[in-house]
This record gives sequence, C-alpha cells and structure tokens, in this order.
Amino acid sequence: MPERRLAVIVLAAGQGTRMKSATPKVLHRLAGLPLIQHVLETAGALSPDHLVAVVRHERDLVVASVLESSPAALIVDQDETPGTGRAVEQAVAALPADFDGDVVVVSADVPLLDHGTLADLLHQHRGDGAAATLLSAVLADATGYGRVVRRAGGDVDRIVEHKDADEAERALGEINSGTYVFTVSALRTHLPRIGSANAQNEKYVTDMVGLLTAADEKVGARVVDDAWRIEGINDRVQLAAAARRLNDRIVEHWQRAGVTVVDPQTTWIDRDVSLSADVEILPGTQLKGATYIAAGAVVGPDTTLVDTEVGEGAVVTRTDATLAVIGARASVGPFSYLRPGTVLGVAGKIGTFVETKNAEIGDGSKVPHLSYIGDTEVGRDSNIGAGTITANYDGVNKHRTQVGSHVRTGSHNVFVAPVRIGDGAYSGAGTVVRKDVPAGALALSIAPQRNASGWVEANRPDSAAAEAAARAERTTD
Ligand code: UD1
Ligand code: CA
Repeated sequence: MPERRLAVIVLAAGQGTRMKSATPKVLHRLAGLPLIQHVLETAGALSPDHLVAVVRHERDLVVASVLESSPAALIVDQDETPGTGRAVEQAVAALPADFDGDVVVVSADVPLLDHGTLADLLHQHRGDGAAATLLSAVLADATGYGRVVRRAGGDVDRIVEHKDADEAERALGEINSGTYVFTVSALRTHLPRIGSANAQNEKYVTDMVGLLTAADEKVGARVVDDAWRIEGINDRVQLAAAARRLNDRIVEHWQRAGVTVVDPQTTWIDRDVSLSADVEILPGTQLKGATYIAAGAVVGPDTTLVDTEVGEGAVVTRTDATLAVIGARASVGPFSYLRPGTVLGVAGKIGTFVETKNAEIGDGSKVPHLSYIGDTEVGRDSNIGAGTITANYDGVNKHRTQVGSHVRTGSHNVFVAPVRIGDGAYSGAGTVVRKDVPAGALALSIAPQRNASGWVEANRPDSAAAEAAARAERTTD
C-alpha cells in the first residue's frame, strides 16, 4: 500500500499579545533558535509533501525566519478573520485540489514537540483510520489551555477553550496540545462550518473535534507522558521554563557524549553548539551559536562564547568571545574580550584585561596584559608588552598594524597604524611607534629623562614626601 500523502501546517499568524513584546512571539529564541524554527525542523523531519506556514502578525519578519530554515515552505497569509480555525482553513485552501492525504497541524509556539511524538501521533492516526487524532497531556495546572472533554465511555467528545469553559470543564486536567492530525477530507467538509460564537469571537480549529464527533466521525487522542514536550509558550515565564527544559536536555546530551559539565544549572548551551569528548565546562558558561570546542579544552568559569572555535587543550577563563578562533593549547583570560576576527595561534596567549578585534596572533605569540589589539597581524613567537594599544583609527579610517615574528615590544607602547614592526625587532617601554621598525632594530621614542634635584624640598616643604627624602639623604650621606 502506498504511503498516504502528508501536509504539515504550522500556525504562526497570532500576535502573541501575552509576550508583551515588539518581537513577534514565534521569533523569540530558545537555545539560539527562534521558536518557529524548532517547530519547522520537527515538522520537516516528517518529510511532508507540503509544508505550509500561516502568517499575519509581523509577516515579513516571520516569513524570513520560515524561509531561512525551510526554503520550500508554502507561505499563507491569514486574512482579517481571527482564529486558529481560519488559519487552518486558509492553509488547506492553499494545498493542491487533488491532495487527498493527512494534514498535521502544529503551533509555532510549541517548540519542544519532538519528532518521535509527532511520528507516533501520525502512526496512530493512520492505524486507527481516524478522521482526526489529537495530541493531549494531563497537566497539574491546566490553566489557559483548551480542555479535552470525554464521553462517559472515555471517547473524545469535544474541546472547550479555557475562556469558554464552565467550572466543571476547567477542573479537567487533560489539555489539548494544539497538535493534531486530520484527514484533509474531514477538514474540507467541516472547517467551513466553524463559527465564532465564543468568548474570543474567533474561529477555533478546536471546534473541528466536536463537529466530527457529532457527525459520528472517528476522533482519537494520544496522551503524551512527558507533558513538558507539548507546553505552549504564551508569555516570558513559559519561555524561560521551556529554555530551562531544553537546556537540561542539551547539557545531558553532551555529558553522555563525554563532556564534563561541572554545574548544569549555570551552563547554557545552544542547540547548534558542538563539543568533543573530554571538554570541561566550568560554572557560569554560555556557549552560543555555532561554537565548537575541541577535545581536552577547559572553558569557564563565567565565560560566554558566541560562534567561537576553541582548539584542543586550550584554556579559556572568564572570557567573552564572538566569532573568534582560539588555537590548540592556547590560553585566554582571565578577563579577556575577543571580538570578531580574532584568531589566536597554537599555544598563543591573550591574557588579562586584553581586548582584541580583527587580530591574527600567530603560533606561540602572546599579548599577556592590559592591551587593545585591533586590525593587527602578529607573527609567531612574539611578545607584546603589557599595556599596548594599537591606535588603529584616525577618526576617519581604520588602519592595520603588522608585527613580525620573534618580536619583543616594551610595556606601554602605542602602535600608530598603519605601521610595521619587523621580525626580531624590539621596542623600549613607553614607545610610541609612528614609523616602521626594521627587522632587528630597537625602537625608542621617548625623550631622555631629566631629574630636577631637590624639587620636593623646594616646592613641597614640610610634606611627608620632603621628610622621607630628607631621611633618605641622611642615610646615604
Ligand atoms: C490553542 C488552542 C488550545 C490549546 C493551546 C495549546 C485554539 C482555539 N486553542 O490555544 O486548545 O490548548 O493552543 O498550546 O486553537 N494562530 C494563528 N492564527 C490565529 C490565531 C493563532 O495562526 O488567528 C497561531 C498562533 O500564532 C499560535 C497558534 O496558532 O502559534 C496558537 O494560537 P494561540 O493564540 O497561542 O492559542 P492558545 O490560546 O494557546
Ligand atoms: Ca499558545
């Protein structure tokens, strides 16, 4: 028997008023990904023949996000008639007229729904030959959700929305997850019959259930055990709770893959992060975007890495890095700020209170203390003195600094770009390097020091300093 055809409809037209946000609800992020992209991925994993996203509120922003993760998705704009029933009705109308398969309906605000749960729902629906099968769960606190009303024999009868429910119905603990499978023929027959005589004056897709059972069509339900998988996100409290749940799963996944996570509670790992075995993550660490950490590296405590690559055996302590590459066995931090374009070589060092940007620092080279290094290339095995600033900006343009290999620059230097410091060169403390330094030269720019003898006695008589100076003079006499 050939597989029945399949369409998945993702509902994303709602405003998400309860988020109280300028950002559309379905674009709020969880583990680095917008809510809707979690749902689209799960939907896509069913390999549907048609994937439809229904949009309206902030449609351009939402459409961009949909197409980013599912370029083949069909976009349907919901008209001014509100409600999930209207959204599904318009999505079904956009399917080819000869489509005669099953339609999975999911909400873009239920991001933790997983492929297995959805595949099981579809399997049960097809096995039962039902007109509709809904996914439900029993919650300790069902407030806000639609409730599943069952008949005396246990069969599903209808769904009642929280706002329309009476006290007895509100006492029911079984909730509608907002995830369903329908045969497209059931939808085509009954969607046009849904009215909007309810507390919200909306066409509810949930009314499909009552209409189908009244017409003696078969409606099944599948109750999920892990209720958190189907929790909807309507406000920021639920968003934080879902983020915590998903993070717990991601952290546990990496722990089982051989990563030491000292404190799972304060470690946040985005979904697209990738870690090798024997990585060690210390408390208070956030790994975001497409960050990758190689074997044996130690990251944290209190470190945030965004789209950053950390090499084997590197140590990254109390650091904030974005779009940086940290070489194998390199050392970064504590208190380092690596901005985009920082590339630190093998066994290199970016140390305490150092900021870098667009800086390639070669193998074995070190910027150990209190420096700003931007738009710079440093060769290998060079040492940049404490307190060095690359003056890369003349107020109009950015310029590059080039430092060779085996260079030793003194403390408190300014490299006024564009400037080159040749291989093996040195510079003295306090040098302002305005001209290129040839290979092997020592650059000095400071005026000779002059000591005005007796200045303190003449200008600060009777001060503690003058007394100390007088004592020192007596002992040397
Ligand atoms: C909905 C269900 C409720 C269920 C709950 C589960 C209805 C009427 N109620 O309620 O039974 O317990 O989900 O989370 O369906 N949307 C549209 N167009 C609209 C309105 C909403 O596309 O006109 C989209 C929203 O963007 C959202 C989804 O549909 O992704 C659900 O809408 P929402 O307003 O969050 O419904 P709930 O009140 O949570
Ligand atoms: Ca919802």
